[in-house]
Amino acid sequence: MSTESCPVDHADRPTDPVSGCPVSVGAAAFDPFGDAYQADPPEAVRWSRDEEPVFYSPSLGYWVVTRYDDVKAVFRDNITFSPSIALEKITPVSDEAIATLERYDYAMNRTLVNEDEPEHMPRRRVLMDPFTPDRLSHHEPMVRRLTREYVDRFVDAGKADLVDEMLWEVPLTVALHFLGVPEEDMATLRKYSIAHTVNTWGRPSPEEQLTVAENVGKFWQYAGTVLDKLRRDPSGDGWMPYSIRKQREFPDVITDSYLHSMMMAGIVAAHETTANAAANALKLLLENRTVWEELCADPGLIPNAVEECLRHSGSVAAWRRLVTSDTTVGGVPIPAGAKLLIVNSSANRDERHFEDPDSVDIRRDNATEHLTFGYGSHQCMGKNLARMELQVFLEELTRRLPHLDLVPGERFTYVPNTSFRGPEHLWVQWDPAANPERTDPALLHTRHPVRIGEPTTRGLSRTLTVERAEPAARDVVEITLAAPAGTPLPSWSPGAHIELQLGDDVSRQYSLCGDPEDRSRYRIAVLRDPDSRGGSRYVHDELRPGTSVAVRGPRNHFRLDAATRHHVFVAGGIGITPILAMADAVRAAGGSYELHYCGRSADTMALLDRVRRDHGPRLHEHVSDAGTRLDVTTLLAEPADGTRIYACGPQRLLSALDAASAHWPEDALSVEHFTTAGRELDPAVEHAFDVSLADSGLTVRVAPDQTVLAALRAANIDVPSDCEEGLCGTCEAPVLDGEVDHRDVVLTRAERSAGTRMMTCCSRACGASLTLGL
Ligand code: HEM
Ligand code: FES
Repeated sequence: MSTESCPVDHADRPTDPVSGCPVSVGAAAFDPFGDAYQADPPEAVRWSRDEEPVFYSPSLGYWVVTRYDDVKAVFRDNITFSPSIALEKITPVSDEAIATLERYDYAMNRTLVNEDEPEHMPRRRVLMDPFTPDRLSHHEPMVRRLTREYVDRFVDAGKADLVDEMLWEVPLTVALHFLGVPEEDMATLRKYSIAHTVNTWGRPSPEEQLTVAENVGKFWQYAGTVLDKLRRDPSGDGWMPYSIRKQREFPDVITDSYLHSMMMAGIVAAHETTANAAANALKLLLENRTVWEELCADPGLIPNAVEECLRHSGSVAAWRRLVTSDTTVGGVPIPAGAKLLIVNSSANRDERHFEDPDSVDIRRDNATEHLTFGYGSHQCMGKNLARMELQVFLEELTRRLPHLDLVPGERFTYVPNTSFRGPEHLWVQWDPAANPERTDPALLHTRHPVRIGEPTTRGLSRTLTVERAEPAARDVVEITLAAPAGTPLPSWSPGAHIELQLGDDVSRQYSLCGDPEDRSRYRIAVLRDPDSRGGSRYVHDELRPGTSVAVRGPRNHFRLDAATRHHVFVAGGIGITPILAMADAVRAAGGSYELHYCGRSADTMALLDRVRRDHGPRLHEHVSDAGTRLDVTTLLAEPADGTRIYACGPQRLLSALDAASAHWPEDALSVEHFTTAGRELDPAVEHAFDVSLADSGLTVRVAPDQTVLAALRAANIDVPSDCEEGLCGTCEAPVLDGEVDHRDVVLTRAERSAGTRMMTCCSRACGASLTLGL
């Protein structure tokens, strides 16, 4: 391998003995057009997620990014990481192909997805209205009618290729309706849009390049013809006529070049992405039969199943960005001018973000955090249309053909390219004599309400049974929850928590402290809070062996960092629960650690026997009554390289650790807060207020039981979020005016009093209004 064009600093890194280049063997072997990546992109880069999350691929000439946090950070910053190369041809085009494209006056240019600021955001805002939930709901009857018509055609056949017979054409027709273009020429268009995918993200041979260029050229001209037709009468429905009308108001924002480029790119954006997503989803669900059967039994699970399918097997496997200034990604220096392949499908399977990421869990309550739609200011505008289509497909098929099965032995093929991914064919079979509609024709008229927008996490719980409820210290009960009838529970990582639904309106989060390998039960320990309004009181008084409880999760905001060389675990009181799971894991892996367990008196310290038994030599008990209080200043006097402090306990303890570690490296202290506040807002206590959005020129009313974040989303203002509990800082918004009632744990006291920022997921207005810089 030549190292001449390799941008990796050779002086800095040892030369790989096999490749002869400082890039690793894995990086040298990376081939996004090879069989392994085509068959399963996230699996093909598992090695990278584990060992080298940001690497340079000499064969592609791109830096490749594979972990969730890094991919999201790149998406989030569209200034340092410009989207301008998103539609650039990944394989250099031959001169002949260029000549062919020129013959067709091909001039595909900036649309939205590849537009930089300051042009992009004004255009996105002007064109957003047709994507608002309210507007999208008008398309639902059309989506449903089309879906039913296509299912009618094969429902009695007993065998079908779902891609050829439904999943390709319905999204195409929906896309054309949504865009407002005529339906004719569908067969030709189908050929054209495949050509566009190969042209942009594929590696066609020189001969193929010519055919592809022919089709792309024709596609371009077709788009121009349709645009001319629409310009003559732009009064119709659809996003393109709307855009043409908007051009009259904002000619500098909606340019001619934009309209022609979008006319072509819009069809692909709306069509292939959704068709592939639908085929991936059906394949995944039928491969996981019990999950399919659960959906057939409870269509209420479909909205979240759509998200889980998009997470697990999304249709956009990777996306691209151009680095505009010297920077770092995941700590790796990357020079200006470098190109990035951000493998969002790999991010979606990152165990550092998603618990048990390879399994299909349709109750996963953070499934919507997948990056299949991208993230940040370029996040897919059509996501809610796609979600609607996928829900309708799943609903119609689970209801009318619950006995659907994959044809055994089918080998799935994919159009070779880096980014757009879905099987070319999906053969399914069933016994038409067993079609439920033959015995129950009323089924044909049933419809389940489609959810437009992100699904809520309500209703995603699984019902577990209390197996044991035993005292674990004074006022602490240890609860063991068992899965019904041997269904395996999702696995979890140390630091994870679950959320229990306790009575009608109360849900509470508790850290898991059992054995992560045990897929049949979860264990938690709960301290009785004397002021409890239903959470811990309910657990102590109502949960008895045999009681059923609705449980959501597991989720983890408090993970062990694999790079830690020495772990200092600090637990205060019931904060021992996540810390114990972490210490167990580090001990099992033979890692270095010390465990500081603080409590008022030994009899209040939960699970103390187990802690002593398993961690005796590393355990430091700090018991106030016994005069052995923890002195955090002494503990953290000397910062040590590679040492991290993991702490959970009362805010007092965490603040003391924060202060005592001020001279440590910035990320040395990692804490889990007790989340005592329920997520639900009590309308009897809260008041409504207005939020004015300075950039968008909108005013949004926030109801007493609504978060600012939810109100913004209802108005289609995209604000990224992660934890939605005031813990992570993702949903921050600039505050220009008004006093904020801060309820997060992200901002420091000084930042709060400055009053210039707020976390929209939890903080509110003190008065009647706020003005935000959105
Ligand atoms: C942008 C994926 C369906 C319209 C994007 C991006 C991705 C994506 C990855 C780039 C995001 C970024 O750079 O952060 C998908 C997937 C879909 C889907 C997986 C189906 C499952 C649709 C549909 C439409 C659409 C149905 C239109 C009706 C757009 C537009 C953008 C976009 C206009 C550009 C937004 C901007 O840059 O501001 N999509 N998409 N997409 N998508 Fe989608
Ligand atoms: Fe995490 Fe708001 S989303 S702080």
